[in-house]
Amino acid sequence: MRSVYGRFVVRRADFDDPVHRLGALWDVGRPTRSGVSPAPTIHTLRRLFIEGGTVESGEVDEIEPDFEDSLRDEGLLEQVPTGVRATVRISLWRGLVIAHDRPPGVQIPRDIVLRPSPTTRTVATLTVRRRCRRALDVGTGCGALALLAAAHADEVIATDVNPRALWFTELNARINGIENVRCVEGDLFEPVSGESFDLVMGNLPFVQSPDTEFLFRDGARREGRDISETAVVASADALAPDGFATLLVNWLVIDGEAPTAAPLSWVRASGCSGLVLFHSVQSPRTYATNWAHGPDDDVDEWVEYLRSRGAVSVANGAIILHRSKPRKVRSAKMSVSPSGEGGRQVERVLRAPSLDDEAVRSSRPKIVMPYTSTSRVRHDADGRTLRPIEIHLADTAGIAGVVQPVVAEVIDRLDGVLTVGEAIAAQRTASPGTVSPELEAAVVSTVRALVVAGIMEPGESTPSA
Ligand SMILES: C[S@@+](CC[C@H](N)C(=O)[O-])C[C@H]1O[C@@H](n2cnc3c(N)ncnc32)[C@H](O)[C@@H]1O
Repeated sequence: MRSVYGRFVVRRADFDDPVHRLGALWDVGRPTRSGVSPAPTIHTLRRLFIEGGTVESGEVDEIEPDFEDSLRDEGLLEQVPTGVRATVRISLWRGLVIAHDRPPGVQIPRDIVLRPSPTTRTVATLTVRRRCRRALDVGTGCGALALLAAAHADEVIATDVNPRALWFTELNARINGIENVRCVEGDLFEPVSGESFDLVMGNLPFVQSPDTEFLFRDGARREGRDISETAVVASADALAPDGFATLLVNWLVIDGEAPTAAPLSWVRASGCSGLVLFHSVQSPRTYATNWAHGPDDDVDEWVEYLRSRGAVSVANGAIILHRSKPRKVRSAKMSVSPSGEGGRQVERVLRAPSLDDEAVRSSRPKIVMPYTSTSRVRHDADGRTLRPIEIHLADTAGIAGVVQPVVAEVIDRLDGVLTVGEAIAAQRTASPGTVSPELEAAVVSTVRALVVAGIMEPGESTPSA
């Protein structure tokens, strides 16, 4: 199978392994022993592993002889009075077959291994994906991010403090026939101390919690730092030159501080370039209500804890570090959810040059395709009004571009062939008297902002004569 990243995906079809056969039977792009899985097979698998139901003893052996015993030996099936039941659930996620714990009842086990969640998706989308040598997924859980990275990294290390998480990650590597993921148990970056990576991914227990009950949620503070800050510092230390780290983070917003003050200070102290993607803030009570779900959790205690630490609100977002020179520290608001290959926009932001006015005028920028834009004309009861245009890329990190109506016609002319200066001249010819020095300045600052937001590529520049 050829990977979109240009090399062969390390996937093997080891049909002697019943766990791999279980994965191949889902038919999500890999060959099965006998081609496409027949409908009764999928029905039985869905019943067991997706719906969590039971099937009669013997039904699994209709898929293939002795399959029930093989999967029972692997700890994936168990006998119950009504028949046979799966001990794990399966989710089909981004072309992978991912096993994880069954949904909990009222009592949530401390070491539960959850399915890939919306936060997993966010990290996956914001990851800068290039062919690379070594990748690290810290706090791997069911291993989803590690297994995705295995398609474009020679070697992936997956770490977790929870041995059950590493059992699932190893299981999922076998299910998907992936051989280049290695699991190491331990606290944060301690198991890979002194090693360096081209890619680091971390969807850690970033929740600002007074508890230490759940491994997936409650990242304990250490040396006066939250787990998010600790992860930023340690990721920076672990990054090889030109390496990228994507981390989901939560932080406290203290009275009188800008909402992004804390993560920007972590990035500045890290020694790396970095992008702070700010998503939203919540009041301590809303935040506590969203996260304090455990049977013993007390929302009032959470609110008191957050207030005692000086929080007026709790913010969430992502930090992407880049070990590069010269250093750039940037921040942007996520106005939509990241989607597609959002890491491409992240990479453009972090590589965007700092352009002075002359460099902007001689650049040949164009908006990255494909994209959608809102209309600049609004028709309502008061008639026709002009409003700012929002540009959203299909492969988006959540950062939108904004173009004021007054500069829209010049920006529309920028196709990667004309320089900004030539586009302004063309506008002057097409609409004499409309191009003022103020409009020229607005075009230049709009292009600069769109390049820094990763919405426009700056293109080749023409040195002035
Ligand atoms: C929110 S879950 C995310 C799992 C997975 N990365 C994903 O995106 O689906 C956080 C994971 O971090 C692990 N974890 C918690 N504390 C840790 C620590 N100190 N060091 C390493 N992993 C930790 C948990 O066991 C859990 O698997």
